Amino acid sequence: MEKIKMILDCDTGHDDAIALMLAAKNPSIDLLGVTVVAGNQILEKTLRNTLNVCQHLGIDVPVYGGMSGPMVRDQVVADDVHGESGLDGPVFGELKLEAQKEHAVHYLIRTLMESDGDITLVPVGPLSNIGMAMRLEPAIVKKIKRIVLMGGAYGLGNTTAAAEFNIYCDPEAAHIVFTSGVPVVMMGLDLTNTALADMQVIERMEAIGNKAGKLFGDIMRFTFHSQAVNGLSAGPVHDVTAVAYLIAPEIYNTKDMHVDIELNRGFCYGRTVCDYNDRFGLDKNVTVGLSLDLPKFWDIVENTLRIYD
Ligand code: BDR
Ligand code: CA
Repeated sequence: MEKIKMILDCDTGHDDAIALMLAAKNPSIDLLGVTVVAGNQILEKTLRNTLNVCQHLGIDVPVYGGMSGPMVRDQVVADDVHGESGLDGPVFGELKLEAQKEHAVHYLIRTLMESDGDITLVPVGPLSNIGMAMRLEPAIVKKIKRIVLMGGAYGLGNTTAAAEFNIYCDPEAAHIVFTSGVPVVMMGLDLTNTALADMQVIERMEAIGNKAGKLFGDIMRFTFHSQAVNGLSAGPVHDVTAVAYLIAPEIYNTKDMHVDIELNRGFCYGRTVCDYNDRFGLDKNVTVGLSLDLPKFWDIVENTLRIYD
C-alpha cells in the first residue's frame, strides 16, 4: 500500500503532541516534515515542545519554525488550557535537537513546488503558515493535494461564543485557506469534542508500557483537568482526529457544505460559517466531519503507539 505523504503543521500543544505521535509512526503515513506555528503558546514554546516530543520518542523528521504571530490581528494564546509552557505536564530531558534553519513558510513552498502534487497538508493550529505560503507563492495552491485540518465548528465556539481557537487566532489566514480552491476537510469542535481521553483511555494507553504510552498518559492527565475551562469532563484530542482521518476515512461521517470565515470584527469574528442546509446554494468547498467511530479511533491510536520502542 502506498503511504500518504503529509506535512503536519502544528502549535504543540497537548493534542498536537499526540497527533505528531500518530503521524510519525502510523504505517499508512509518510510524514515528510513538521512545520510549527505560534498558537497554543508563542512560537519559541510551541517549537520547543515539538522538538521535545521528537527527541523524547526518537522521531526522526525535520522540524521547521514558522510564523510567530497571525497575519493581521493581535496574537492570542491558550495558556488557560495548555499551561505556561504550552505543554505542561510531561517532563523532558535536556533539549539537544534543533530545528532546521529554513523558515517553515519557505519549506512549505519549496517542498510543494518540487512535488508531484501528491502532498496532503494537515494543519492543527492557526493557519498562519499555510495562509502566508499561499500569499507568498500562489502557485502552491495547485500543488496541494488536499488540506485536512482541525479547526472551526458548525455549532458552538470554544474561544468566543462563535469561534473556535485555531480559526480565531488567525481568521485572515483561515480565509485565504478556505477560499483557496484546495479541497478542505474540516474536523471541527462538533466532532473533536467527542474524542475524549477519559481515565479508561489514559490507563489503556499507559498499559502499553512503552515511552509513547507513558507520554500519552502524562499529556492527557494534565489535559483531563485543564479542560474544565471548556466545560468538558475529560481531555479532547482534537488534532488527532485530523491525522486519523488520513488513516481511516471510513470511520468518519462527513457532509460537504459551503464554509466561509467571518472577518467582520464583531461577535462572530473568526467563525466558520457552515452552510449546513445549503441556504446560499454556493460551492461545497469543505467536507465537514460530523462524527466518528470512537472505538475504532482509539484502536488506531493504541496500535500506532505500540510501534514505538
Ligand atoms: C484547538 O486549539 C488548540 O488548543 C488545540 O491544540 C486544538 O488544535 C482546539 O480548539
Ligand atoms: Ca493545535
